[in-house]
Amino acid sequence: MILCRTRRELRSRLRQFREEGSATALVPTMGHLHEGHLALVDRARELADRVVVSVFVNPLQFGPEEDLERYPRDLDRDRGLLTHRGADLCFAPSVGEMYPDGEPRVAVDPGPMARSLCGRHRPGHFRGVLTVVARLFGLVRPQVAVFGRKDFQQAVLIRTMARDLEMGVQVETAPVVREADGLALSSRNILLGEDERKEAPALYAGLEEALRAFQGGERDGSVLLSRIRSSLEGKSCIRVQYAELVDPETLEPLSSAVPGAVLALAAFVGETRLIDNLELL
Ligand code: PAF
Repeated sequence: MILCRTRRELRSRLRQFREEGSATALVPTMGHLHEGHLALVDRARELADRVVVSVFVNPLQFGPEEDLERYPRDLDRDRGLLTHRGADLCFAPSVGEMYPDGEPRVAVDPGPMARSLCGRHRPGHFRGVLTVVARLFGLVRPQVAVFGRKDFQQAVLIRTMARDLEMGVQVETAPVVREADGLALSSRNILLGEDERKEAPALYAGLEEALRAFQGGERDGSVLLSRIRSSLEGKSCIRVQYAELVDPETLEPLSSAVPGAVLALAAFVGETRLIDNLELL
């Protein structure tokens, strides 16, 4: 697998891919890869001839009080995993290489859909995400890009950006990958202490509890959300930030549940903020 640390090297390698007539898929990541990311690589390999994975912890998407410094990084390990999984190229720029003139003067405005869910609690986060993803799309010019569904609001916003700004990139999402106990894989899971790790699967258990109520005929959104909250009561490490029922396209809150609606949850488990979601089926 080729490792590129600079935009210049990246451009030259991508030129070779284009000359050989290959279609390229991009998997943007912030590294510290886990099986969830590797499943995105698998999906990307199904969709294109060449798979490019970016590994870049993007400072633009972290607020001043957030975990930019704590965010886990291990490029050697990531390279090994990507090589083994058949990625063709890993683009791992430094912050100075990615933003040579400092913070970009022009950024992507994520619009009203970024004001709900995570966006309400992380002002500026999705502006930072869309700005780096737009920059990666510009650098790599992929035909397709693959994102995880765990970051549900992010995936909706990126798909909307690509469509609304006619970026010519097909945006694909891949299902959430979970531990055996239900905890959604996340690079941040490594930050959990022992007791926190034991309690963290309760997030998914709460979503499943609400799903069971829906499948049993309950349609009142507030009842479904109270099922989530009550199943998390007594978990001393967990503090819910939000639990919402939303439309999967517009992210508008729903008072009545319908098939396809999404239950979305964010909670602090100790100091670590985790998110999860589940589609009502
Ligand atoms: O989901 C992530 O890891 C990041 O938000 C992304 C899409 C790589 C942008 O930095």
